[in-house]
Amino acid sequence: MCGIIGIVGSRPVAPRILEGLERLEYRGYDSAGMATVSGDGIGLRRTAGRVETLKRLVAGSPLSGQLGIGHTRWATHGKVTLCNTHPHVVGQIAVVHNGIIENFEELRRTLEPRNLRYRSQTDSEIVAHLLYLELLDDPDPERAMRSVLERLQGAFSLVIMNADQPDMLMVARRSSPLVAGFGEDEMFVGSDARALVHLTRRLVYLEDGDWAVVRRESIELHDASHRPVERAVRHSEVQDEKPDPGEFPHFMAKEIHEQPEAVTYTLHRYVEPAGGELKFPEFPFDARDVPRMSIVAAGTSYYAGMVARYWFERLARLSIDVDIASEFRYRDPVLAPGGAVLAISQSGESIDTLMALREARAGGQHVLSLVNMAESTIERESDVTLHTAAGPEYSVASTKAFTTQLVVLACLAVSWGLQRGTLEAAEASVALDALARVRAGLAGILADTGCWDECVGQLARARDIIYLGRGSNYPIALEGALKLKEITYIHAEGFGAGEMKHGPIALIEPGTPVVVVAPHDKWFDKTASNVAEARSRGARIALISDRTGIEKLAGAATWTLPLPDSHALTAPILATAHVQMLAYRTAVTLGTDVDRPKNLAKTVTVE
Ligand code: G6P
Repeated sequence: MCGIIGIVGSRPVAPRILEGLERLEYRGYDSAGMATVSGDGIGLRRTAGRVETLKRLVAGSPLSGQLGIGHTRWATHGKVTLCNTHPHVVGQIAVVHNGIIENFEELRRTLEPRNLRYRSQTDSEIVAHLLYLELLDDPDPERAMRSVLERLQGAFSLVIMNADQPDMLMVARRSSPLVAGFGEDEMFVGSDARALVHLTRRLVYLEDGDWAVVRRESIELHDASHRPVERAVRHSEVQDEKPDPGEFPHFMAKEIHEQPEAVTYTLHRYVEPAGGELKFPEFPFDARDVPRMSIVAAGTSYYAGMVARYWFERLARLSIDVDIASEFRYRDPVLAPGGAVLAISQSGESIDTLMALREARAGGQHVLSLVNMAESTIERESDVTLHTAAGPEYSVASTKAFTTQLVVLACLAVSWGLQRGTLEAAEASVALDALARVRAGLAGILADTGCWDECVGQLARARDIIYLGRGSNYPIALEGALKLKEITYIHAEGFGAGEMKHGPIALIEPGTPVVVVAPHDKWFDKTASNVAEARSRGARIALISDRTGIEKLAGAATWTLPLPDSHALTAPILATAHVQMLAYRTAVTLGTDVDRPKNLAKTVTVE
C-alpha cells in the first residue's frame, strides 16, 4: 500500500505535496515524509507519525523548490521508525516506493563488496542505492532507470527525484498503481486519481510495467520492454472531495449514517424509481448461458460476496464460488468454460483482488467487477463494471460500501433470476419493493440511538465475543466480528450458528457476549436452539431480530436490537447497521482511534 505523490512544478510544490498526502493517507498512516529539490539540494522532512505532524514540521521548517515527492507509509519491511520513513535519500537520489521489492535482500548481498551504508531496514532503500551506483557508471538517467528496473522483482510504484536534474521525475509501475496528471506547465504523479484531481483532471494511467520520464510539459512513457508508448489521456470524473467528517466525531459515524442515502442512490442506478424496471449494462454473455460465477474479494467486500452467493443460488439458480482473492489466485481453481468472475472491491485497487481477476481472465473467464471508486485499476481491467454510489469512504472500517454492494448484488440476482426463468415476476417485484424500503429501515435503526448502550458497556469489557448467524445472515456475523475486532482490538469471531457446537462453544464462559443475527426467517428455529445452547453455558445474548423473533426469544436475550419486519433479501442489509453500531460504539467507549485503527490501511496494494 502506501501513498505516493510527485510534482515537477513551475511554482513551489511543498504545500501541494502535503495536500496530496492528506488525500492519500487512507493508504497508510504509519509515517509520512517528503523531499524537495531547491538550490540547496535535497530538503527532507519526515516523521514517524501522521501527515498532520509532517505538516507542522514543514510549517516550522519550510521546504522550497519546484520539484518534490511525498509518501505516506504502511509498514511492510522495517518497523515504524523515522529511518524507515520515505523518501529514502542516497546522494542526489530520493525515492518513494509503494509495494514490495521482493529480491531486496539478494540485491543487498550482491552489493556487499561496495560497502554501502544502509540507513533503513526497508526493501525500498535499495532502489536509491542501485540508481545512485548506476549513475556513477553512466550518467544517462534513462539508461540507469532501465537497468535498475531490470534488477527489481516484486510489485512497485516508484517516484524518483534526482537533485542533479531538477527538471524531471522518473517513475515506474509494476502491479502497484500509478497515475500521471497534466497541469499548466507542470506535471503530477500519484498513487491514484484522488491524490491528483484537485490539481488536474487530465490524467494518464500507467499500465503494468510502464515507466516514464516526467518533465514539466511532457511525459515520455515506455512499456515493460522499454519501447516508447502512448497511453490515452482521459478526463477524470473522480469526485474531488477533501476528507471532512462534518458534524460527526468520526468518518465511520458519518459513513454509517450516510447509508440510507447511499443505498437509495445505488438502488436508483439499477432500478428505475418510477416503473421499477431493472437496468444493467450489457454483459459480454447471456445470463441464461453462464454456467458458473466465481466471486473474488477481500475483507468486508468478501463478506458481501458471501451474502450474494445465497441470493444468486436461490433466485437465479446459478452455481457460485466465493473466494478470498488471495487464496483464489494460488489454488489453481478449476474454471468453467464460458464462466464469469465477479471481483468486488470498494477501492478497486486491492492487489489480491486485482491479481485474482487477472488469474480468472487468463483462465478464459468473463470479468465483471463491482467497485465504489470509479476509474480504479480493477475497473480498468474489467469487461463490465458495476458501481456502488456510496461516495468516498474514508474510515478504514468499511460500512456504506458494504451495504451498497449488497444492494447492487441483490438487484443483479433478481435480474438474472428473471432472465434465467428461475424467479417469477411477482416474486421479483416483492423483492424490489423490499429493497426500496431499505432506506427507511436503516434510517429507523440508526435513529434508535439508545438501543446499543447497555450491550456496548459489556462488549467493551469482554475478552472474547462471538457472533452467530445462519444463511445469508451468517456473513453478517462474520462482518460484525471483523468490524468489532478491527476497531476495538477485542477478540471476536463469527460462526455459522450451527457450527458453534463443533468447537467455538468451548470459548463460552459465564458472561461471554454472543451477538446473534437472527431475523425470523426459515433458519430462525435452528438458530434459536443454538442460542439456548449458548445460554445454558452462561453466555449473554445480544439478539438482532424483528418483532416476531424478539418475542420468541424474549426469555433468552439479554439485549435486543430490533429490526423492522423485512424480506429475506433485505434483512442482512438492515442487520448490518446494528453490527456496525455495536463495533463503533464499543470502540468509542474504549477510546481507540476509530478511523485509523492500528496496523490497518484502507486500501491494500501489497500481497
Ligand atoms: C482493507 C480494508 C478493509 C477492506 C479490504 C478490502 O483490508 O481495511 O476495510 O474491506 O481492504 O478492500 P476493497 O477496497 O478491495 O473492498
